[in-house]
Amino acid sequence: MLDGKTKIGIDRIGVYVPDRALPLTDLAAARAVPAEKLLHGLGVHHMAVAPVYEDSVTLAANAAVRALAMAGDCGRTDPGEIGLLIVATESAVDHAKPVSIFVHELLGLAASCRAYEIKHACYGGTAALMTATEWIASGVARGRKALVVASDIAKYPPHSAGEPTQGAGAVAMVVAESPGLLALDVGASGVHAANVYDFWRPLDRSQALVDGKYSLDCYLAALAGAFAEYRRRALAELVALGDGELLTDHLAAILYHTPFPRMAWKAHRALVEDDWRTRADRAARFAAEGEAIARRSYAEKVEPSLWAAQAVGNTYTASLYLCLAALLERGADRLVGRRLGMFSYGSGSCAEFYSGVVAPGAQHLAREIGLAAMLERRRNVTVAEYERHHATASLRAEPAPERPPRDFAGPFFYRGTDDDRRAYAHV
Ligand code: CAA
Repeated sequence: MLDGKTKIGIDRIGVYVPDRALPLTDLAAARAVPAEKLLHGLGVHHMAVAPVYEDSVTLAANAAVRALAMAGDCGRTDPGEIGLLIVATESAVDHAKPVSIFVHELLGLAASCRAYEIKHACYGGTAALMTATEWIASGVARGRKALVVASDIAKYPPHSAGEPTQGAGAVAMVVAESPGLLALDVGASGVHAANVYDFWRPLDRSQALVDGKYSLDCYLAALAGAFAEYRRRALAELVALGDGELLTDHLAAILYHTPFPRMAWKAHRALVEDDWRTRADRAARFAAEGEAIARRSYAEKVEPSLWAAQAVGNTYTASLYLCLAALLERGADRLVGRRLGMFSYGSGSCAEFYSGVVAPGAQHLAREIGLAAMLERRRNVTVAEYERHHATASLRAEPAPERPPRDFAGPFFYRGTDDDRRAYAHV
């Protein structure tokens, strides 16, 4: 075991989203729903569309090269330092062969690096991050680092209520001792697991099934359970509340799994109410002014992390970490030394509320994330093009799909399937 004082957490972060996007005003017109419902009711204005030459492997590898290339003052991460690779996804490309082993090859990781894929709906990224952190805390990593990648293509049937909440993207995180970005409060987290059928994808289907309204209730119930457990641990191990203080006063920002940005508002509204009701002197005031109190708190603590999710849509396992990258890219300067709350929800369900402190110098590294620039260079697709990608991008794409365009930033792309074997290449 490492001594309790060694900090462990997210050292580097790399984000990748496909270079195609569908404006949701166009989708609204095509489906004859008011644009306001998608733009304000769900809170999303574009959704990323994965072209046929991208899948969960290329998204993951393209995010990972960016994480390894992040240099800061200490230089890039040497692939030889990575002793553990975990890819979290619910968009697997094979029932047996994991996404991780393709990524392992594309990145040139060492043969001695353990590699595997992990699944628990959108919670998989957090399960991987916790496993990697605890692997380092246990001491068996012996100075090596872990690479955790969350990669997904969110797909619902066309014309379904879930259709405007699709998206695609990946976030890769190097997890290490003395992390450059976020030191996790190891062990001080709250977990809530319960077997529910809110969102699932049977083995023979490429698109998710969802009980939409029920899934919102399951998410909020899991948030309440996980936050209650986090509160117990945080107050015992991390935070001493001053006179009249609340636990959320000690969290400079709170990030949520964001299937659509309006969900983050619903979650934060519930969490703030929970927190205020823990104090008799505050509960009465919340009853009178709760909406305004929650809105102010949301504007300060949540909204700054949502600009990328509004432009990308749901990225399932990567969603919470897309919010983290977005927050750090634009706000790391003011957050150094401050604690962030993080809520991860995976349907089915398992959820976790945890926290971490933004590392000194994180503002220099965060400038390299390049998420805004990546979103700016995207090309809009028409509804017809989106529908073609949606129908073509299947698990068995034979013959080989089209090649990426000349300006493809990738660099990795899917070449097609031959004799039931998938092939990938570097542009
Ligand atoms: N102008 C402005 N707002 C409007 C509007 C208009 N003209 N018309 C409707 N709205 C608002 C509604 O009031 C509603 O907002 P509130 O919930 O704040 O009241 C919002 O737009 C959505 O409207 P509906 O509830 O009528 O929408 P819907 O029934 O068509 O579908 C949904 C919404 C259930 C979320 C659906 O998109 C869905 O099934 N999505 C996939 C499931 C999902 O994302 N669940 C989230 C929790 S589970 C999870 O987090 C895991 C995961 O990643 C999947």
